[in-house]
Amino acid sequence: MGSSRLLIFFILPILLVLDPLAPTIADDHIDEGVCTTRADYCWSCSNTNNTFNNGSIDKQNLNTLLSSLASNAQINSRFYNFSLGQAPNKVNAIAVCRGDVAPKDCLTCFNDSVSILLQNCTNQKEAIVWAERCTVRYSNISIFGVLEDKPVKFVPSPNNISNAEQYKQVLNTIFGNLSEKAAAGDSVSKFAAGHALVPVTNQTIYATVQCSPDLDKQNCSDCLEESISDIPERFDGLDGGRVLRPSCYLRFESNPFYDPGADTLINLPDEQGNNTSNITTKVSPPSFFRLALSFCLLILSAFAFL
Ligand SMILES: *[C@@H]1O[C@H](CO)[C@@H](O)[C@H](O)[C@H]1NC(C)=O
Ligand SMILES: *[C@@H]1O[C@H](CO)[C@@H](O)[C@H](O)[C@H]1NC(C)=O
Ligand SMILES: *[C@@H]1O[C@H](CO)[C@@H](O)[C@H](O)[C@H]1NC(C)=O
Ligand SMILES: *[C@@H]1O[C@H](CO)[C@@H](O)[C@H](O)[C@H]1NC(C)=O
Ligand SMILES: *[C@@H]1O[C@H](CO)[C@@H](O)[C@H](O)[C@H]1NC(C)=O
Ligand SMILES: *[C@@H]1O[C@H](CO)[C@@H](O)[C@H](O)[C@H]1NC(C)=O
Ligand SMILES: *[C@@H]1O[C@H](CO)[C@@H](O)[C@H](O)[C@H]1NC(C)=O
Ligand SMILES: *[C@@H]1O[C@H](CO)[C@@H](O)[C@H](O)[C@H]1NC(C)=O
Ligand SMILES: *[C@@H]1O[C@H](CO)[C@@H](O)[C@H](O)[C@H]1NC(C)=O
Ligand SMILES: *[C@@H]1O[C@H](CO)[C@@H](O)[C@H](O)[C@H]1NC(C)=O
Ligand SMILES: *[C@@H]1O[C@H](CO)[C@@H](O)[C@H](O)[C@H]1NC(C)=O
Ligand SMILES: *[C@@H]1O[C@H](CO)[C@@H](O)[C@H](O)[C@H]1NC(C)=O
Repeated sequence: MGSSRLLIFFILPILLVLDPLAPTIADDHIDEGVCTTRADYCWSCSNTNNTFNNGSIDKQNLNTLLSSLASNAQINSRFYNFSLGQAPNKVNAIAVCRGDVAPKDCLTCFNDSVSILLQNCTNQKEAIVWAERCTVRYSNISIFGVLEDKPVKFVPSPNNISNAEQYKQVLNTIFGNLSEKAAAGDSVSKFAAGHALVPVTNQTIYATVQCSPDLDKQNCSDCLEESISDIPERFDGLDGGRVLRPSCYLRFESNPFYDPGADTLINLPDEQGNNTSNITTKVSPPSFFRLALSFCLLILSAFAFL
């Protein structure tokens, strides 16, 4: 009698607190924004009533700024930051092209993104477009060098996989590798791309990460780390997905989606490699947890019988 009560008192709370299979507590990352059907463009307009008055000076500044970005013959780089006007009518904008896209192709992406901003975020003081090949955003507040993790948009792939646990481990390795590489980039590019092979099933996972290059190394890793931690909850059992934030994005797919010239092969650490990856014999983290739990249980019941 005493022992089973003891078990309930001691084991249940541990189970409830620690069980990794328990449903995760909902996070405060509210998915904001809309996408075109193929998600080649997603965007989010400021959700506050931060609107310009029609014909005000800062609205004019914005129009001038965005159309100069779209038509600027000088554009031959993948990263632009612009400001126009004087406070309180100042408008700031940042445009970043994906690291593997040829600079001459960036202009088209910037131009198309500006069209969306002008058509779909009319009169907003702050807005962002995440295109497949570039990101364009503007705000009336200073955004240069500032870590901005909201709004966030999650774009899940429609395709399921059957080996979710194994996939997750490979993703951790990939994104750990790529985010370190991207954060170590310079002030015009913080981008990394690569693929890895899932053991046994031999699926290939292709992935990219990118930070706005005006971020410092620490803020870049922080932003990517936050996005990586969203993967299990948002894309569990899926073969791909995108986490889009103003300061950084990540993406993974089972098909190649970036320029082969940017590709790298990411090797898995030994314990994920072919020596121990036989799924049928592998001790997965949850079962390891159960094992440890049974051990605790054993010890506790031994005490209870004393
Ligand atoms: C925005 O304006 C609308 C209509 O004027 C109002 O109903 C709404 O509460 C406002 N929202 C915010 C966040 O201020
Ligand atoms: C601005 O003008 C557009 C049409 O030109 C109108 O639909 C919109 O309501 C106006 N917005 C404000 C805040 O006056
Ligand atoms: C970009 O922003 C930084 C910080 O505000 C500024 O020093 C730099 O001159 C800007 N570059 C351009 C091209 O506006
Ligand atoms: C940006 O716009 C908001 C809303 O109109 C305003 O409260 C804020 O003071 C502005 N910030 C700057 C730096 O102008
Ligand atoms: C940019 O878009 C405008 C229309 O919004 C178009 O007239 C112009 O040709 C485009 N320029 C480029 C380089 O795509
Ligand atoms: C974006 O704007 C275009 C042009 O006004 C419109 O056709 C389209 O429906 C808008 N999309 C959304 C999701 O509001
Ligand atoms: C990171 O971003 C914050 C604001 O988002 C900024 O104040 C800070 O200087 C940046 N750098 C570091 C190292 O935190
Ligand atoms: C993927 O799995 C979910 C639930 O597990 C199911 O609702 C959905 O239909 C599946 N999709 C495909 C394409 O098999
Ligand atoms: C695994 O996939 C790669 C590339 O898709 C291929 O080259 C290789 O032959 C495959 N290996 C096995 C054992 O199927
Ligand atoms: C990324 O993976 C490659 C290949 O496995 C390896 O050579 C490189 O050192 C790794 N980089 C980081 C930062 O982990
Ligand atoms: C395990 O991987 C090594 C190289 O990484 C390869 O030479 C070997 O053939 C692989 N073994 C099996 C059983 O796939
Ligand atoms: C995985 O385990 C199965 C069954 O135990 C065995 O037949 C197979 O050869 C093993 N594969 C590897 C790569 O060790």
